[in-house]
Amino acid sequence: MEGSPSCKDQTGRRHEAAGVVAFVKDYMGFLLPADLNLLWTIGAMLVAVLGLMLLSGLTLALSYTPDASLAFGSVEALERRMPSGWLLRSLHMTGASFFMAALYLHVFRGLYYGSYRAPRRGLWLIGSALLVMVMVTAFAGYVLPWGQMSYWGADVAGKAVGAVPVIGSLLERVFLGGDAPGTPTLHRMFVLHFTLAFSIVGAVVLHVAVLHARGSSSPSGPQGETPARMLPFYPYFTIKDTLGVVVMALLFTTVMCFWPGLITEPANYRPANPLHTPADIEPEWYFLPFYGMLQAVPSKFGGLLVSAGAVVVLFCVPWLDRGLGWTGPQSGMRWLAWLAMSVLVASFVLAGLAGSHHVQGVWLLVGRLATVGYYAYFLGFLPFYAKLANWGERA
Ligand code: HEM
Repeated sequence: MEGSPSCKDQTGRRHEAAGVVAFVKDYMGFLLPADLNLLWTIGAMLVAVLGLMLLSGLTLALSYTPDASLAFGSVEALERRMPSGWLLRSLHMTGASFFMAALYLHVFRGLYYGSYRAPRRGLWLIGSALLVMVMVTAFAGYVLPWGQMSYWGADVAGKAVGAVPVIGSLLERVFLGGDAPGTPTLHRMFVLHFTLAFSIVGAVVLHVAVLHARGSSSPSGPQGETPARMLPFYPYFTIKDTLGVVVMALLFTTVMCFWPGLITEPANYRPANPLHTPADIEPEWYFLPFYGMLQAVPSKFGGLLVSAGAVVVLFCVPWLDRGLGWTGPQSGMRWLAWLAMSVLVASFVLAGLAGSHHVQGVWLLVGRLATVGYYAYFLGFLPFYAKLANWGERA
């Protein structure tokens, strides 16, 4: 009969619905090690903040103008005149800081517990690619309001790119769209910001799908991954993740409403002025460790290599630590991993402190020591730890 679905259509739809139900059931029944600690709720927090960033970002984009003479005014107008515009912008700005903080914790967690080892090497590589994408997105977003730090941040980044031998000046022109930051730079950053934001969603879906295929690691090593010591995602970990997200939301609201100065830079509330260089040009707090490393090296190109290398080295981690045996808490070697992780975290923080000061005198020394400490973890400790683990396994 015309208008009524054919028998074939109905069967097709029934199959589709059954597929969706099976997919949801599969994810809900996904088995995870029962001993996952609170650090394993950070992934869920990242997903929640990513959703918030996309929603608030899309709404902000409706009233933003990527033009050097209008950008600052358009952001001011949406803060002051658009209903709840101030709230949308605060959510987006606070979200960026929380996202980066959660991301760093997520990476340090993975390093400490060796979550990058086989069979999760691919998962780690997708994660490392995600880190790069998120960092570029955050940088591009910071340029958009066209305040003093946006302008001078773009200028410093352009000059850093320009330090690449031979093709540097070409790269700088492509990056800025001219000799100095201006409207073409804003167009580039705007396009980069939202295209990457959506690509991140795709990469996160892949990240979680690979996790689903490979299974989650356990804080107590492979013995924690045996079926007898597993629990289904629903209801156990859905409750735990929800609790983590609620606690983070409370912290988020507290910072956003009562301590906004913690994550905002006053200089960026002044419009970009190419004729006035601020006394201290510094990036957002989450880029300070890399900025500190950039400045700790006397040559510009050397600084760029060391700073970019600090992220690139993460891609090599699964091959730097080729340990076969588990070096988990029961192995008696955990104290060593703990010590090395403390040095890594301290180096990261100190590099950030160096980045927030004029890198000269004592801060230059601090920046250099922190850079050495950071690289020593990856290039010294991880290969050594792997050898130790393999030796322990054979003994
Ligand atoms: C947009 C950024 C990211 C999101 C939304 C995200 C999301 C998630 C989620 C939901 C999980 C499962 C829950 C958990 O273990 O916490 C997870 C696990 C994991 N992620 Fe990410 N992630 C991101 C970035 C990264 C990065 C930058 C890395 C490393 C370089 C990474 C490495 C891992 C690893 C190794 C696991 C498996 C942990 C395990 O169970 O052993 N992720 N991620």
